[in-house]
Amino acid sequence: ALVSAKEMIEKAHEGHYAVGAFNINNMEWIKSILAAAEEAKSPVMLGVSEGAGKYMAGFKNVVAMVREIHDSMGITVPVALHLDHGSFEGAKACIEAGFTSVMFDGSHYDFEENVAKSKEILELAHSKGISVECEVGGIGGEEDGVASMGELADPQECANIAALGVDFLAAGIGNIHGKYPADWQGLNFDRLAEIQASTNGKPLVLHGGSGIPADQVAKAISLGVSKINVNTELQLVFAAATRKYIEEGKDLAGKGYDPRKLLKPGADAITKKVIEMMNQFGSANKA
Ligand code: G3H
Ligand code: ZN
Repeated sequence: ALVSAKEMIEKAHEGHYAVGAFNINNMEWIKSILAAAEEAKSPVMLGVSEGAGKYMAGFKNVVAMVREIHDSMGITVPVALHLDHGSFEGAKACIEAGFTSVMFDGSHYDFEENVAKSKEILELAHSKGISVECEVGGIGGEEDGVASMGELADPQECANIAALGVDFLAAGIGNIHGKYPADWQGLNFDRLAEIQASTNGKPLVLHGGSGIPADQVAKAISLGVSKINVNTELQLVFAAATRKYIEEGKDLAGKGYDPRKLLKPGADAITKKVIEMMNQFGSANKA
């Protein structure tokens, strides 16, 4: 069965490694990531954005697909199904639908409202054994082609949200979603250390996990990051492998146009990349 992410993230925090939360889009993503976790003997979180939830015909269908694929593949490693950057309504809907973990992202509200709404989601989710992630300080990224630099979360605000009993906390430390711009300043480790101290050692979440240099990832983990979100990286390797297959004309040879053949190189590329990242994050062989 799918599990809450509380235990796997606390273990990661104690063991100084991080669990990857990989965003899913469809059946190929689910199968590829679960296959990687099983092979790497790693705990894993499957992240679902609200947009991806809609694309997959709703949260209930996501739960049904993930449960069924998980069971039919005979997956033995811990797997959590997690709402990524959830709205207040979205988080409630996922709690109802059978997700085992939710993120309520109230970072765009003023702080009092973020606290009040986070509190309500925490009570509801925890009454059902579902883990909760909240966010303080927005995480920048590319929007309409304009890349904004990552915000730095306020350590006192992080302390206040952590004190509500959140299971793991997303806090901006200069990280951003999507590709990092050439003039990116890197992660702010001083701020990360301050946040880890102000929250009394709450497991922290690093969003925008695609394209951060390995030494910075390792340092972030050493300073309290226990969950790393990865989305763009898997889209890039899927697209590249699919493009190569088509450009080499392999879809024209034999039955290469069969969707099961056409999507296989991309799906295999996802599995390979996820295994690589599980080794990098240190979660391999921790299941
Ligand atoms: O919440 C999802 C992530 O933070 C993914 O960011 O697309 O830069 O890997 P990314
Ligand atoms: Zn994110």
